[in-house]
Amino acid sequence: MAFLSHQVCRGFCSSAVRNVVIKQVMIVGGGQMGAGIAQVAAATGHSVTLVDMSDDILKKAVKGIEGSLKRVAKKKFADKPEAGEDFLQKTLQNVSTSTDPGSAVQGSDLVVEAIVENLKVKQDLFGQLDKAAPAHTIFASNTSSLPISDIASATNRLDRFGGLHFFNPVPMMRLVEVIGTSATSQETFDSLLNFSKSLGKTPVSCKDTAGFIVNRLLVPYTMEAIRLHERGHGSKEDIDIAMKLGAGYPMGPFELADYVGLDTLKFIMDGWSTLEPNNPLFAQSELLNKLVSEGKLGKKTGEGFYKSN
Ligand code: 3HC
Repeated sequence: MAFLSHQVCRGFCSSAVRNVVIKQVMIVGGGQMGAGIAQVAAATGHSVTLVDMSDDILKKAVKGIEGSLKRVAKKKFADKPEAGEDFLQKTLQNVSTSTDPGSAVQGSDLVVEAIVENLKVKQDLFGQLDKAAPAHTIFASNTSSLPISDIASATNRLDRFGGLHFFNPVPMMRLVEVIGTSATSQETFDSLLNFSKSLGKTPVSCKDTAGFIVNRLLVPYTMEAIRLHERGHGSKEDIDIAMKLGAGYPMGPFELADYVGLDTLKFIMDGWSTLEPNNPLFAQSELLNKLVSEGKLGKKTGEGFYKSN
């Protein structure tokens, strides 16, 4: 009934739309971020459909979710292994998978996209989903650096489009950046804030500006650490130790870059340096470019600034 009323309302009286209570969530992209978002949504009682291009990718993603859930359960139910097992099974029951986004979106209140950082690919996906999705469905992108409004422009639901930016590892990081464009309706924005809270996360409100809040600070900081090393002012080991022990960061900038992925870091930097070529914060790093060209992308490939254990 609620679903029907949203549909009717969007079609005939868009200004009167109420907040969408999000129960069914479709996550597109079974990589680290997508799987992490699927995990926390399922663990907090949402019904989740994880979508990717092949069953192999999806199997790997679900295996990753299971592994991460076991770590969470071990900590959360340290003295109650049976409750931990129950939590694991119930969460996994909330996750289904699909390679067909058009049909998976049918019952979804919210779509969260966490696919490759390529504007055209994201626009193509959302353009297709827009035609198939119910009228009330909210679309959100987990992009690290692309403008939400550019992605949303491929759809006819600008008022029901926003950003939900999660942090790696999603099950551990407590923040979600909620991004509204100039066209995002207040109802949509509130629904996204409430959804973030329902995941047990703390949301912050962001404008649709490059890097939102966290990456706009974290990426230039990480790049300056790499340039500092390139200038010969410190070894990467010493810089990491310095930031951990001197500034209380859980990881040093080189460890974090390897963890996030050097390709992701470079992609963000390339986009921003194209937009603002004279901004010294966005200056290229030869070392980063070299490692990426050699396929040394960090933890995911076994080597980046460091070799992974
Ligand atoms: N799933 C479930 N539990 C996890 C986990 C995961 N993926 N990762 C860590 N844990 C939990 C487990 O309970 C683990 O214990 P276990 O090893 O016995 O299972 C416990 O945390 C401790 O983990 P570790 O021993 O591996 O190490 P730490 O204590 O250092 O914690 C960390 C790991 C939470 C990742 C911490 O180092 C940290 O907070 N690092 C900074 C991460 C960060 O800054 N992320 C943001 C990146 S920017 C981003 O994502 C934006 C994007 O757009 C680029």
